[in-house]
Amino acid sequence: MDRNLTVNAAQHSDIEGVLALLKKYHANSISDEDRKDGFVTTNIDAVQLAELIDKENGLVVAKDGDQVVGFVIAGSWQFLQRWPMFEYMTGELHKYTPYGEQLDSNNSYQYGPICIDGAYRGNGLANQLFDCSAQIMAQRFAYLVTFINKINGRSYAAHTRKLQLDDSGSFGFNNNQYHLMTLDLRPLTA
Ligand SMILES: CC(C)(COP(=O)(O)OP(=O)(O)OC[C@H]1O[C@@H](n2cnc3c(N)ncnc32)[C@H](O)[C@@H]1OP(=O)(O)O)[C@@H](O)C(=O)NCCC(=O)NCCS
Repeated sequence: MDRNLTVNAAQHSDIEGVLALLKKYHANSISDEDRKDGFVTTNIDAVQLAELIDKENGLVVAKDGDQVVGFVIAGSWQFLQRWPMFEYMTGELHKYTPYGEQLDSNNSYQYGPICIDGAYRGNGLANQLFDCSAQIMAQRFAYLVTFINKINGRSYAAHTRKLQLDDSGSFGFNNNQYHLMTLDLRPLTA
């Protein structure tokens, strides 16, 4: 298959494509066939994505030509606190000291979700998206923090085996159990 893949910080013109991909792989709308290969649970709309771009430079997209085939969201806890899950996680941060320093809402940020169209998985695109987002956020934060639902085996495998995140603990929210994952980004700016 001919491909013309690029990975960059998103522009407003990418929002429609991101929302289409989000809908395809969201837990509420994903097909039964796709569910076993992972799903996303965050709800975010076009206005919020535009704000994420403008205020946080927090959206990275992979495109094949003009088509959005993958994205990563990342943002400060201050920006994300409007979502109950992230508000809860903000209150949990102080319990974790994975790199010799207590996590807080100033030294860390929330990465994710990441999502790649099924036809483009398994080819290293997750690493490219992840690296682009991490390079941007490492300018502002020392530590990445994220969560993975314990039933999302593919995402856990990708994040531990490929992206080298640390499984730093567990927590429960809204009747779901999550891995609390972290990564030290200081080497990126050293
Ligand atoms: C998570 C995601 C970005 C990872 O990208 P990817 O291209 O699929 O990642 P890779 O193929 O490089 O790695 C996936 C790993 O999971 C393994 N895997 C595949 N299917 C699996 C499954 N059903 N259960 C457990 N592991 C699985 C693969 O073997 C691979 O590991 P390996 O290369 O060491 O063998 C992508 O799968 C995706 O967008 N999924 C849907 C949305 C999602 O789950 N997002 C994350 C929310 S936390």
